[in-house]
Formats: sequence, structure tokens, C-alpha cells
Amino acid sequence: MIQVAGGNPLYGEIQVQGSKNAVLPIMAASLLYEGTTVIENVPKIQDVYCMMGILRSLGCKVSMEGHTVLIDASALSQCEICREDMEKMRSSILLAGPLLARLGEAGVYYPGGCSIGKRPIDLHFSVFRALGANVEEAESGKWQIGPGENKNSGARICVKAADLLAAAVHLPYPSVGATENGILTAVGARGVTVLKGCAREPEIVELVHFLRKMGVCIRGEGTSRIEVEGQKALTPVRYRVGADRIAAGTYLAAAMCAGGDVRLCGVSTRGMEPVLPVLRSLGAVITQEGDSLRLQMGRRPKGGVFRQDVPLKTAPFPGFPTDMQSLLLAVFAVADGENCMEETVFEGRFAAARQLLKFGAEILVEGNRVCVTGVPSLRGASVHAPDLRGGAALVAAALAADGCSQISGYEHIARGYEDICGSLRLLGADICISHFST
Ligand code: UD1
Repeated sequence: MIQVAGGNPLYGEIQVQGSKNAVLPIMAASLLYEGTTVIENVPKIQDVYCMMGILRSLGCKVSMEGHTVLIDASALSQCEICREDMEKMRSSILLAGPLLARLGEAGVYYPGGCSIGKRPIDLHFSVFRALGANVEEAESGKWQIGPGENKNSGARICVKAADLLAAAVHLPYPSVGATENGILTAVGARGVTVLKGCAREPEIVELVHFLRKMGVCIRGEGTSRIEVEGQKALTPVRYRVGADRIAAGTYLAAAMCAGGDVRLCGVSTRGMEPVLPVLRSLGAVITQEGDSLRLQMGRRPKGGVFRQDVPLKTAPFPGFPTDMQSLLLAVFAVADGENCMEETVFEGRFAAARQLLKFGAEILVEGNRVCVTGVPSLRGASVHAPDLRGGAALVAAALAADGCSQISGYEHIARGYEDICGSLRLLGADICISHFST
């Protein structure tokens, strides 16, 4: 449980952690190389520990020294991941591609992760099949998943390929995970794979930079068309993960809620392009100063910026990130007027909005749209973190609220934030974790 005594503006500087969504696919990619991979600036978060555990269960030697992770995949022997491990996080599915590329087989289950929508994996499997793999559910012996559906979530899925063959693959939607799995599988396929309709997120660009350092011939990162030359000799790699753009956005949003003047070290505007203009339009003054990003907020966020007829819409990159949606709702909650949001990526992502009501926020949810009429001050409340980013949004709101707040469900927040309370304390917040309950 997190405890917050709200009402203090945030002042000071913090270092922002390495990127969760970049490091997890990179850790999965380390399976491709029969030797040791070194990854630096790895955040100390539960999802990373979980990925380390799964890699060990597959036969890898894994260690963490400070923020550096060493993965020796020379003894990779297992292609099966147990259901419990698969259900711990969404990114577990990213191991299927590298296992297929290296061992020709992966035995997996439906992945877990935040409850923010149906989150099917049909696109991942259509990519595997396009590259010559057979995808079967062991229990039924046949593929049962329709487009956009997740009908048989408890079933074991066997993905197998005697020989992966390069192909032209079109993704009907720019899924981040399916793009990553497509790239990772193509590394093991004979010939040049062309992936079209790819996601363009900065984390895909990081994965490609990592693979290029590993010796993979790959082009097109940051565009919707990526080409991968498979079956090249790979080399050992040492790679430093970049700053987490969503964690950075979280601290900026928190400072917009509470007011103040904060500096985030090690963060550039790159990758933050879809977010910064939005925060500026709401009244934040944001400047890049050397290798840090500074935000000053001397007033309440503006209302009437995202009206009902022109809501702030989430979308795949370079659109506004869905991972920042609930954080913006917290900012809207203290604005001097109404702002509206439309969620277009995940269908079930407004759980945090319902928790924000307990702080006295005025929020109306209708389908995938939400309108927030800001109030001059929120009041402390006992709330529950429904998911990772929703939990962070509740922390941001609690910082702005008068009085004390308790946020349960810390385990969701710990999946993606390295010591969020310690970082916010450095900025002057009165916040701590009580260990009596989670
Ligand atoms: C990744 C991020 C997550 C972020 C999301 C969107 C990681 C570890 N997680 O999740 O933080 O919120 O991108 O930016 O990097 N879809 C299908 N079929 C599929 C795959 C996806 O229909 O096979 C749908 C999803 O249900 C969702 C949309 O596509 O509606 C986007 O999902 P996707 O881009 O795949 O997100 P993730 O990779 O799971």
C-alpha cells in the first residue's frame, strides 16, 4: 500500500529509469545468441525480475549487478514455459519468437499482464504461421482463435517449425508485440522477411538497434516496413537501454497535477514528441536543458483544450500513447474546465477513471470516451490501483489532493516503476510504502 500526504508541489531533479517496454523484448532477444549478452540501464522492476526467472527456467544463466543484466543463453535447452510464468506478464509471449528461431519450437500459454482489454494474440500467431510455423492448441489439436478474440485462454499452445522461411508479412494493425515477435522470428528464418504494417514505437527502434549490434541485417525501424535478413552469424552484444518515456511522462504528469518545477535527467524529447505538445497545450512549460527535460507548472492545467468534439485520442505511435491516458485523466481532474479523451487502442482502459472519482474528480465515462470537469482541489481517498499505469495515475492525483490517501494494489505499480515513492520523495512529495498490506 502506498500512503501519500498530498498538497506539496514537486521541486527538484531525478534520474529516470531505463525503459521497461524496451528492455523486455531485448531480454527475450538475448535467447537468439548462443553466448552472453550484456544489457545496461535495466530498471529494477517486477516485470524484469519475472523475465529473468523465465529465462532461467529455459536453461539460461542470468545475473543482475546494479542495473546491468547478463544473460548467457549458450545452454538454452527448454522450449516450454509454464502457464504460471506466462500469466505473470504480457511480455512472456515475446519469448515464443526467439524460441522458435533458435530451437524450432515453443510451448506457451496465453500471456497475462494488465487487465485493460481483451488483448488477443492472434496477430502474433499469424506472423509465426506466415514464416512457416505450425500453431496448435495442444488440448484440441486445432487453432481456435478468431480475429480479435481470445477464446481459449487456458490452453497450451504449441508453435513449431522444422524450417522457418522468410516471407512478406502484413500486419492489419500495428501491434507492438506482434511486430516484435515478427522481427525476432524472422532472425531465424532463411531469406529476407519483409514485415509491413509494423508498429513504429521507439521501443521497436531500440529492439532493432540491439539486434543490429548483435549482427542482424535489419532495416526500416521507425517506419511501417521492416526488412530482416535471417540466419546471419550473431555476435556478443553489450547494449544500454534508453530512458523510459512513459515513466518520464508519469513524473511530468505528476508535476502537472501537483504543480512545481522538476527536472528529469537522462531524458530527451526524442520519443516524447506525441506527449510534450499535449502537456504544453495544457499549460506546462517544458524545456530541454542538456540531457534533461524540465517542466514548470505554476498554475492549474487549462480546461477547454480537448473539447468533446476534439478529444485527446490515444493511437499507435506517433499518436498519443495509451499508456499515458490514465495519467492525463489525473491532470484533467484538476484542470480549470472540461477536457475529454478517447481511447482507441484498448477497449477496457478506464478503470482508473472510476477510482479517480473517489478523490472528488468529476468524470463521465461513456464507451471509449471520457469527459473530465476539473475541480480546484481533490481530496485524499482510499483507492485501488487497477493496473500499472492506472495505479501511477492515482499516485499523481493523490499528490495533488488535500489530505492523506492510501493506494492499494502496489504490486501493479511495482511491475513497471523502480521505486516510484523514492523518486517522488526526491521531488519533495510526502509518500511512502506501508508494508502492512499491498
Ligand atoms: C505494448 C506495451 C503496452 C502498450 C501497448 C500499446 C509492452 C510490454 N507493452 O503492449 O504498454 O500499452 O503496446 O502501445 O511493450 N491486438 C490484437 N491482436 C494481437 C495483438 C494485439 O488484436 O495479436 C490488439 C490489442 O488487443 C490492442 C492493440 O492491438 O487493442 C494494441 O496492442 P499491442 O500494440 O499488441 O500492445 P502490446 O504489445 O500488448
